[in-house]
This record gives sequence, structure tokens and C-alpha cells, in this order.
Amino acid sequence: DWTMAEFRKTKIAEIREQVGTGRVICGLSGGVDSAVAAVLIHEAVGDQLTCVYVDHGLMRQGETEQVVSLFRNSYNIPLVAVDAEETFLAGLKGVTDPEKKRKFIGGAFIDLFEAEAKKVGGADFLAQGTLYPDVIESVSFTGGPSVTIKSHHNVGGLPERMNMKLVEPLRELFKDEVRDLGRELGLPEAFVGRHPFPGPGLAIRIPGEVTKERCDILRKADAIYLEEIRNAGLYDAIWQAFAVLLPVKTVGVMGDGRTYDSVCGLRAVTSTDGMTADVYPFDAAFLTQVATRIVNEVKGINRVVYDYTSKPPGTIEWE
Ligand code: XMP
Repeated sequence: DWTMAEFRKTKIAEIREQVGTGRVICGLSGGVDSAVAAVLIHEAVGDQLTCVYVDHGLMRQGETEQVVSLFRNSYNIPLVAVDAEETFLAGLKGVTDPEKKRKFIGGAFIDLFEAEAKKVGGADFLAQGTLYPDVIESVSFTGGPSVTIKSHHNVGGLPERMNMKLVEPLRELFKDEVRDLGRELGLPEAFVGRHPFPGPGLAIRIPGEVTKERCDILRKADAIYLEEIRNAGLYDAIWQAFAVLLPVKTVGVMGDGRTYDSVCGLRAVTSTDGMTADVYPFDAAFLTQVATRIVNEVKGINRVVYDYTSKPPGTIEWE
């Protein structure tokens, strides 16, 4: 793609100009945006860049391993990975309000990131994979004047606190363009094509209290759902698909026994920027197959429902 080849060249020159001989630190979230930003910046300033990945334990199945291996093995980009699952789960104990979950996770993430940044000797610049829709949505919301509907998870406040300047090479791009840029930079298709994933991770897909046990149950259901979507060849036609684990128990029967377990909700939407979304119209046989597999294979779930709400009036996430 000639446009992205041009963009790449221009941005690399801009990054070099901005950064000079300074040191850059980049927080990887595990998602496409921060990964593309990091690879681009690494191409521009090489080992002046250090990446930090704080694993909050709220990732999908296999995701952490994939990110760590991509950076260390495929790109040879220095990466500090911190396993902070226990810290996050301890802090989320008893927290049920969605915004409180976000605030805690965002705050703990910043604290851990800052501690790691200090350990590697600090930096002059903080790199972020901020996209154009993030810039817009954090300023205002289509529903009213400057109302924060959901406080998005980023490292806001940190640059001032640590006296760092921001490097945000993706600020003009939409998601599909970031994917094109990722391909241009040689990132594997399976990574570049990945559905967006929110910073607070599975915590906002578990309404009610988040526990290790509930995260594990959700990871299993979500992996089955995504596997079926991939096998059906539907993954790339969908903007985001995921399972949520509801704090509701219902009665079921399995074999000779009565069960009393959690409900799993399935969500799949099409969208171009996440600001509006339409429900993905799976056929009934597909949903039945997914529901059957989840109930049979995941202990703790005995009922599956499909979310038919578009955005607006619904949001994509359930919290
Ligand atoms: P909603 O649920 O607001 O989601 O329709 C729109 C897009 O934003 C993602 N999202 C988040 N991303 N931190 C993030 O980094 C968050 O707190 C957050 N909440 C929602 C969501 O996955 C969708 O792509």
C-alpha cells in the first residue's frame, strides 16, 4: 500500500526529529495500536526505545505469551514484562462499579508502569498508540456536551508526573489504517487483524465482582466462541466479538442432575471505528453450536444468550 509506505517514511522522520537522542518508553497493552506504535518508533530510533508490558491478568487466553514472543523473538525489541495479576485481582476485590474498576485498573497500571520506567532509568518521551477516534471520544461524546461516558484506559497524567513528552504517531489514523500500517511494518496477519480489546480487559466483561475463578471461566468461553468464529471464516467480517460472564445464576439440567450456574452473554458487532456498531447477524445454527460447546465444555456456565443491541443505544462493551 503506497499510502502507508509514505506514512511510514514521514512518521519515521518526524519521530527522529522529535525524539533526537532522547529515550522513549512505550507501554504495550497487548493490542494492535500500541504494538504498531512501538514497532514504528523502534524502526525510527532503535534501542532508544524500551517497551513495558504490564500483565494485569485480565487478558484473553494466550494473549500475553503472543505479545511477549512477538516483541522478543520476532522483532528483537527490548521488552520488560511484569506479571501483576495478583496485584490487580487483590485491588479489584469487592469492586463492582464499572467506572471504579476502570479507575483502579488505570491507576494501578500507571503506578506499575512508572515503577518499571524508573527501573530502566527513566525516559524523556512516553509513546502511546492513541488513535483518531480516541482523540475525539475523550473530548466529547455524541450524546451531550463533554460527558465522559467511559473513562478510557490510557496513561493520562503520567507524562506530567514523570516530566515526559508524548510521542503519538498514530493520532491521525483510524483502526483500519493502523492495521494497514502494521502490515506495512511486517506484523503477522493474525496479530494485525485482531479485534480491539479494552485496556481494563476482562474486568469490564465480568459485571459484578472480578475473581480469578471468573476470569478463568470467561477465558474458556471466549476462546471457544472465537475459535468457532475463526473456523466459520467470520472473524475478519466482525469488528469485535467476545463473551461476557454475567453475575446471574439460572437453573439447568445436565445428565440426571440439576445445575445452577452462571449465564454467558455473547456479543459480536460490525463497526468502522467503534463509535457506532451493528449487531452481527449470525445464523441460528452457528449460535446453537457455540452455546452447546460452551455449556458442555465450560464448568460454571449452563446458559448462553446473544446480545441483539446495536450502538447506540447500547455500547459495545457491557460495562
Ligand atoms: P463502548 O463499549 O464504549 O466501546 O461502545 C467502544 C470501543 O472502546 C472500547 N472500550 C475501551 N477501550 N478502555 C479501552 O481501552 C476502556 O475502558 C474501554 N471501554 C470500551 C471497546 O472495546 C470498543 O472497541
